[in-house]
Amino acid sequence: MRFLLVNGPNLNTLGSREPEIYGTATLADIERMVSERAAGLGAEVRAFQANGEGELIDWIQREQKDAAGLIVNAGALTHSSIALRDAIAATDLPAIEVHISNVYRREEFRHTSLLGAVCTGSIVGLGAQGYVLAVDALARIVKGAE
Ligand code: DQA
Repeated sequence: MRFLLVNGPNLNTLGSREPEIYGTATLADIERMVSERAAGLGAEVRAFQANGEGELIDWIQREQKDAAGLIVNAGALTHSSIALRDAIAATDLPAIEVHISNVYRREEFRHTSLLGAVCTGSIVGLGAQGYVLAVDALARIVKGAE
């Protein structure tokens, strides 16, 4: 069982980027946490981060074939990218949307997700821990427990 972990623009700077909002865990820390949790559940993880919309879409299209599910934090593209939404929908994979910060407590333009409707569920505002919870959720969904 393989899960895809996709992070969008600016998430490569986690750790130093606005730590009062996003915490101090780096993307490498998060990828490690996700891989360890997945390994405990019998899954492997392929992780990718890009700042460009097209790169993210190319990667999802390439990797979807052998994957069982997707965890995605698309950063600001969450609020703007119909193309990324279409790419996620086209995979037909169960997908969990993650946001480190509570976007609903922030600027109004962050309150709308174009991706939410093509994801199975969303985890918002629980910090880096949200990614680990997403692994648990995805494993349950894939194994048919929910
Ligand atoms: C974010 C929230 C987005 O609004 C923002 O543009 C990000 C990070 C989050 O994880 O809280 O880049 O997706």
